[in-house]
Amino acid sequence: MKELNSVELRNLWLKFFKKHKHKIISSASLIPENDPTVLYTTAGMHPLVPYLLGEKHPQGTRLTNSQRCIRTGDIDDVGDNSHCTYFEMLGNWSLGDYFKDDMIKWSYEFLTSRKFLCIPVEKLAVTVFAGDETAPRDIESYNLWNKCGIPADKIFYLPKENNWWGLGSGIGPCGPDTEMFIDTGKEKCCENCSPACSCGKYIEIWNDVFMQYRINIAGGPIEKLLKPNVDTGMGLERTLCILNGYKSVYDCDLFVGAIKVIEKLSGKSYEQDTETIKAFRIIADHLRATTFIMGDEKGISPSNVGQGYVLRRLIRRAINYAKRLGIEPLELTKVCDEYIEKYKNVYPIILKNSQKIKDELLKEINKFNKTINDGLKEFDRAVSHLTGTVIDGKTAFRLYDTYGFPVEMTIELATERGLSVNKQEYVESFNLHQDLSRTANAGQFKGGLADVDNYDNVRLHTASHLLLAALRKIYGNDVHQCGQNITSERLRFDFNIDHKLSPEEIIVIENIVNENIKSDISVIKEEMGVQEAKKSGATGIFDEKYGNIVSVYTIGNISKEICGGPHVAHTGELNEFKIIKEESSSSGIRRIKATIK
Ligand code: ALA
Repeated sequence: MKELNSVELRNLWLKFFKKHKHKIISSASLIPENDPTVLYTTAGMHPLVPYLLGEKHPQGTRLTNSQRCIRTGDIDDVGDNSHCTYFEMLGNWSLGDYFKDDMIKWSYEFLTSRKFLCIPVEKLAVTVFAGDETAPRDIESYNLWNKCGIPADKIFYLPKENNWWGLGSGIGPCGPDTEMFIDTGKEKCCENCSPACSCGKYIEIWNDVFMQYRINIAGGPIEKLLKPNVDTGMGLERTLCILNGYKSVYDCDLFVGAIKVIEKLSGKSYEQDTETIKAFRIIADHLRATTFIMGDEKGISPSNVGQGYVLRRLIRRAINYAKRLGIEPLELTKVCDEYIEKYKNVYPIILKNSQKIKDELLKEINKFNKTINDGLKEFDRAVSHLTGTVIDGKTAFRLYDTYGFPVEMTIELATERGLSVNKQEYVESFNLHQDLSRTANAGQFKGGLADVDNYDNVRLHTASHLLLAALRKIYGNDVHQCGQNITSERLRFDFNIDHKLSPEEIIVIENIVNENIKSDISVIKEEMGVQEAKKSGATGIFDEKYGNIVSVYTIGNISKEICGGPHVAHTGELNEFKIIKEESSSSGIRRIKATIK
């Protein structure tokens, strides 16, 4: 096997596929385009979905790259030897061009050739699809591997559970795959030991998906694609680990510098004990993901929904583990600096956005510092009142809603004290909150953290409060909202006024809203009785649908509205407000359409 570093392996991959007439395309953004079903790019094929479904790719039918990916499904496993939330996937694609024959031959060549990975054949094992009622057994792949030189006892037929690939959403192109493994030489764990076991004898190195099908709706039927494609993926970090005989992915060159910085900041040695190893790895992983998310072309900021929530969770988790090691959280930007230096030649975008990455991180650390102590006090208070060993879901939700503790963090804190959290009840409280929001907004909010569009809806929703506040500031408190509609692209806001707005008036309105965005004012939510809300001067429609207890959202001394939410935590999250249209809605009512950046 060849001992390679990350740059060498990346280059070797691209060189190999270039030799086989592939065009090298650049890594797409970590934020998927036009795909509300997932928050982040999870595989190299993800940005290519339209082309895998038949659209013509401008670069042709043979493509290759190294794609930045984020997978947070196993975030709690980060700290072990193999899990990372951010990783790179080396990939190649045939868009209706070559198929199994070439792909298996090339896979064998890349893995075993002296010019490439030089893995001894006897160390390889492969799996192929066993077939079921939806698709036939993949005898073709079996024969192709066998012809290359993989002996029959190293080719395993496995069911769909193991040898089928599609996106996590269950929608999109999919098909049977053949996976390649390194046989570590460990004893078989049982008579039927196979790459499907988790005993550690086999480690996956590469996955070739033969994309022959598509699924249009989750759980729906599979349809044959007119032209079958190939989609393959090899994890960069994992392969480096295998080639170099490392115990863990964290030993590879991509992490070495960051781990040194963490040693310096903490004054502790990485391998001091199992606790330090875990904490170092979590900090190293989460801050690498953070650097890439905030430094992305479509950079995301921490928030309470969607991608921003995942980011917030990563940062807050890193802060907690840093504190355990005695690191002052504000020093964590030094870990980002190390990653920026390490990756700047491969991904210049993070160099370009380096200041933004560090500013955003500091902002989030400061924000978290402000509430963490109160939150921890609240947590301790809840624990001291506990009769059993289970923290109820309402408390977990309060910690999330008021103190910004991701529920996973509350669970971690609880676990450390030998306690647990009623997650089901938490989810119920969470959904109730979402339901309130939905009712109040006439069903416009789809709800759920997994909905990308939702965040834009939420931001536009807060923008509409700032808009009403600006209108009332200029035209007086008789102005009220007469109707509202929000899509992920724009807000539409109707209000009473006796004249058409001039271009100058529109600029004044925009300026007032943008000033309030720039001031990054906190948006505070309180629950109170309807009468109390009225007395407090909150605006809003006192409608039956709100029930007896209402939520009141206050934005500094700018705005106070009865509203189901949800809203952003800080007005700065809106970036910039722009009115795109002013028109008549009906007699005495004007309509504004506006967007935010
Ligand atoms: N898309 C395939 C995977 O992620 C190659 O494994």
